[in-house]
Amino acid sequence: MSEPKKLFIKTYGCQMNVYDSERMAEALGGKGYVETKSAEDADMILMNTCHIREKAAEKVYSELGRFKGLKEKNPDLKIGVAGCVAQAEGEEIMRRQPMVDLVVGPQSYHRLPAMDDALQKGEKALDTDFPEDDKFETLKSRPKAKRGPTAFLTVQEGCDKFCAFCVVPYTRGAEVSRPSERIIREANELVEAGVKEITLLGQNVNAYHGHEGGLAGLIWALDKVDGLERIRFTTSHPNDMDDALIEAHGTCDKLMPYLHLPVQSGSDRILKAMNRKHTRDEYFKLIDRIRSARPDLLLSGDFIVGFPGETEADFEDTLDLIRTVHYGQAYSFKYSTRPGTPAAEKTQLPDDVASDRLQRLQTLLGDQQRATQESMVGKTVKVLFEKAGREAGQMIGKSEYLHAVFAPATDVAIGDVRSVRITKSERNSLGGELI
Ligand code: 5AD
Ligand code: SF4
Repeated sequence: MSEPKKLFIKTYGCQMNVYDSERMAEALGGKGYVETKSAEDADMILMNTCHIREKAAEKVYSELGRFKGLKEKNPDLKIGVAGCVAQAEGEEIMRRQPMVDLVVGPQSYHRLPAMDDALQKGEKALDTDFPEDDKFETLKSRPKAKRGPTAFLTVQEGCDKFCAFCVVPYTRGAEVSRPSERIIREANELVEAGVKEITLLGQNVNAYHGHEGGLAGLIWALDKVDGLERIRFTTSHPNDMDDALIEAHGTCDKLMPYLHLPVQSGSDRILKAMNRKHTRDEYFKLIDRIRSARPDLLLSGDFIVGFPGETEADFEDTLDLIRTVHYGQAYSFKYSTRPGTPAAEKTQLPDDVASDRLQRLQTLLGDQQRATQESMVGKTVKVLFEKAGREAGQMIGKSEYLHAVFAPATDVAIGDVRSVRITKSERNSLGGELI
């Protein structure tokens, strides 16, 4: 038998890319590739890229520069660019970096084995179509290999919302939901491989419509999967939080009390300019309803500062919204111009104004995150243990609220869910003891 070829995948960006990278490795596994953790001994390097902000996209080109030396040493090395930069820039990548052999957009991963055939013949391969066939169905089913206790599972891709700043509707295309039978089959395979917690992924996951009753319907179907203990989902748009999904947060024991619900801005004027299609008041009312269903739910969000036209008063409205809602954790970004999006046509704010606002916003969000963590001290949470900790005898896992929790746990196995009393709050984690 010939030596297996080695595949090195570098993943950037969101959790969906993490999931896609796994599926690409599985697809190329059928062509005799095994994954390696080092680019130096790879026969193929695949970069799974992110185009959401300018910096993320630029990273691709600087990283490609780094791989150039490897290609000079080993001319048989194949270099591929996958993901959203591949989709957005296509042939431009091969023009800028002629050493790139393969460019594949996120909807074409099932064509990778055929593309590899072309590469082996010394040809280049490019595919950035939005094909009719469902890539996940064409990709072979997941191998039975033992896995860690948590996994991502993509249920929905693409987005029809067209927020004025966002490239996703262009790079990932229109919203498509996977049929629920396939998702349930995949969930069962994951559970058989040792998975206890599944995070359902979608760019606009709560718009999922591949099951009766939408995402809530799918969650209730997954609730019946024996051995699956925890369900999460991300990322959601406020306008797609329907009654059934809100209610599930109060009634489905497997659905964890954590919700990532980006609002982006607290100013009605900016929300309108962003084409978010709801007001700050509507968001407040929604949060009230979600918290009535599940009072202890930990809320997370995304914020953009420095959107074109954002005044100091608009920004103050965002700070005010954050003070009113109180987030357990959040991500925040300076607005980044994305070519081809409506907001790119508008006059941009000076960078120092945006930087100053980002700093003020992050200070407030940091205070809220710390306060939320500190409020956990003395409480008992259920931790799904995922790996050994830094100190001997210590294990690390996640609470229901997605806090990283470490505890001395000599008699605990990876994949166990155990009660832990929180005794201390550290920078990005909580410490506790088993009870
Ligand atoms: N500039 C800055 N942040 C952006 N996001 C999306 N597009 C942009 C952009 N052009 C942020 C949003 C989104 C998250 C995934 O990335 O906050 O929710
Ligand atoms: Fe982008 Fe999310 Fe808006 Fe869709 S809902 S356009 S993915 S920010």
